[in-house]
Amino acid sequence: MTDQKKPVLRAAGIDKFFAGAIALDQVDLTLFPGEVHALLGENGAGKSTLIKCITGAYHRDGGTIRLGDTEIDPRGPEESQALGIGTVYQEVNLLQNMTVADNLFLGWQPMRAGMVDRRQMNRRAQDILAEYGLHVDPSLLLSSYSIAIQQVVAIARAVELSGKVLILDEPTASLDRDEIDLLFSVVRELTARGMAVVFITHFLDQVFEIADRATVLRNGRVVGTRKLAEVTQGDIVELMLGRHLEAAKRDRSHATPGDTILSLKGYGKRGMIEPFDLELRAGEVVGLAGLLGSGRTETCKVVFGAVTADQGSAELRGKEIRLTSPRGAVEHRFGLCPEDRKIDGIVGDLSVRENIVLSLQARQGWTRPLSRARINELVDEYVRLLDIRLASPDMPIRLLSGGNQQKALLARWLATNPDVLILDEPTRGIDVGAHAEIIELIEGLREQGMALIVASSEMEELVAYSTRVMVLRDRRQVRELTGDEITTDRIVKAISQEETAA
Ligand SMILES: Nc1ncnc2c1ncn2[C@@H]1O[C@H](COP(=O)(O)OP(=O)(O)OP(=O)(O)O)[C@@H](O)[C@H]1O
Ligand SMILES: [Mg+2]
Repeated sequence: MTDQKKPVLRAAGIDKFFAGAIALDQVDLTLFPGEVHALLGENGAGKSTLIKCITGAYHRDGGTIRLGDTEIDPRGPEESQALGIGTVYQEVNLLQNMTVADNLFLGWQPMRAGMVDRRQMNRRAQDILAEYGLHVDPSLLLSSYSIAIQQVVAIARAVELSGKVLILDEPTASLDRDEIDLLFSVVRELTARGMAVVFITHFLDQVFEIADRATVLRNGRVVGTRKLAEVTQGDIVELMLGRHLEAAKRDRSHATPGDTILSLKGYGKRGMIEPFDLELRAGEVVGLAGLLGSGRTETCKVVFGAVTADQGSAELRGKEIRLTSPRGAVEHRFGLCPEDRKIDGIVGDLSVRENIVLSLQARQGWTRPLSRARINELVDEYVRLLDIRLASPDMPIRLLSGGNQQKALLARWLATNPDVLILDEPTRGIDVGAHAEIIELIEGLREQGMALIVASSEMEELVAYSTRVMVLRDRRQVRELTGDEITTDRIVKAISQEETAA
């Protein structure tokens, strides 16, 4: 059992201060060989910061790190990786415009006569990735593959480089069930070889599925380490939040949708999304369900006009419109909170404040700046409403924790008070407590008469807030579920081809 083994890694008394805030306070983390150790906590609790202090990506202000019997002090990810600690960070940091093989081998490419041996590199990349069940062409640009595949490339890179500890910071946030299975089988393989794996996630089901122990952080402190076989999900949630969480319940008895706001007929874009019909009324939430790559994100983008439809027609309150750009959509009072906050969302170097008012300011026009007082009022309101944890709204948004960045992005679109709000994976990277709050928020917006389209890979979530669910498969609308048909069971069946459009 893990208890008898000597720890492979031991971080003790780790402190980290940022200007104006204590991010980590005397944090201990002990990893045994062969274990999957979950690192849990609310958004901003300090999980990513702890990892960065262990790898030396951040300079720590106190504490020691031992790898086996030796005290180590890596000064950055390369150094810690060379010592045997491989890390895949929350924000995938690969090079989009280099090949898959380059990304896998960067810094340790096979050489021949002073040159990178591309043939050998591609062949080895293919072999390595095949072990992960990925059959991709390593000579293609990384950007030609989905985020999910990129994530697996990042994991393969971290594992191939090191052997003792693998740290995964929210690796499954953009993965499909099949890909999660693949990842978990890789993780089990690695722990069977004696590696210790740190797994950071907000998906507690996955924690109980794969992890042996969990350490929970709250406000930068360890509040407990537990063997998962000895506790329930409720126990863990209580540790994380310091309070009990009520289960979200489905209650749409008083769902009385209003007038039709948006009506799309035969709407689509060749090569991206097959033509579909959509009637969206005030006070409705249309959920978009489907596997990764099924066309959820494409549907969101086409409806918003981020991608221009080349078929069909759109009517807004009975008047024909053409949506050909995000700007036009914003003028028509549409909002789209995108899936990938790093690519389409946040502007990292701008402050949280500027990020929150960005879309509203854009709609109003840059020649008519919002007043300082109005900005402060909005920012205060949304920081409070969404419980965004920050030292100051003037800090660059990239310094917020991942989940808090996501909330700030949501705030940006809420601040525009749109008539039609499209949310693509609104709870990605959001902790369990905030998760429940966002579901409630969606309910609240619907009750106020907003029309929403929400894409999510989480069935329970869709069931909780959708008044209708549109199921997508292979970039095609295959089924629409309404009323009592909206159950996780029915959605799963529709997704997995057991039931097709009747
Ligand atoms: N470079 C930095 N400068 C200032 N504050 C920072 C910096 N990096 C992190 N923080 C702050 O430290 C706290 C902990 O953030 P961290 O990213 O570790 O949270 P987390 O537990 O990983 O959350 P999430 O689940 O949202 O990813 C947050 O309040 C964050 O704003
Ligand atoms: Mg984090």
